[in-house]
Amino acid sequence: MKFFVDTADLAEIRDMAGAGMVDGVTTNPSLIAKSGRPLLEAIADICALVDGPVSAEVTATDHDTMLAEGRRLAAIAPNVAVKVPLTVDGLRTCRALADEGRVVNVTLCFTPQQALLAARAGAGFISPFVGRLDDLGLDGIGLVRDICEIYRAYDGIRTEVLAASVRGPLHIVEAARCGAHAATVPPQILRQLYRHPLTDAGLEAFLADWRKTGQSILDLADAAD
Ligand code: E4P
Repeated sequence: MKFFVDTADLAEIRDMAGAGMVDGVTTNPSLIAKSGRPLLEAIADICALVDGPVSAEVTATDHDTMLAEGRRLAAIAPNVAVKVPLTVDGLRTCRALADEGRVVNVTLCFTPQQALLAARAGAGFISPFVGRLDDLGLDGIGLVRDICEIYRAYDGIRTEVLAASVRGPLHIVEAARCGAHAATVPPQILRQLYRHPLTDAGLEAFLADWRKTGQSILDLADAAD
């Protein structure tokens, strides 16, 4: 499974990318607003840090303006994935951009039928919003499972399932179990993936025993070479 980081915060992206934990980045208008930076500059800076897909979302709601915005966003860097909402104008824009060879991430997906339409429109990614469904007492992971199962039934579907609106590590594990190609994850949740108190306690015990030996691997190597 690929891990995308769901933020427009450059320092966070740099930190995660440096740790080799980032295959791509997703942003949305709320995350760009939170960063306080001009959209085009923010996306260009992120694309300079990360080789994988960087989702940048259009903000118009009509097809013509969405298409113009999408082309402008795609021109920022070759790894921009243009993000469009799952509306009828968004789907038309997805088709047009996909026909031009652009990668499109169709966002705000809440049903399997919406996901089918996105695949028909040539989406590179479909983003089912797991946490926002859970917030309503619905089954966010169930949606990811349905989409993965349906897409797998058709050889012609190349759209990747990108689990979004992830609220905790278990969402990621469950999405991976379903066969989702990727999950987009806020930095603080990405960090929770590698942290475990037993790892920390185990390491501390190993090192305490090691210190008692008075050895150093590099000193031993120097002596042996
Ligand atoms: C996806 O691309 C969105 O940016 C994101 O996952 C939305 O998550 P939220 O529901 O936590 O805002």
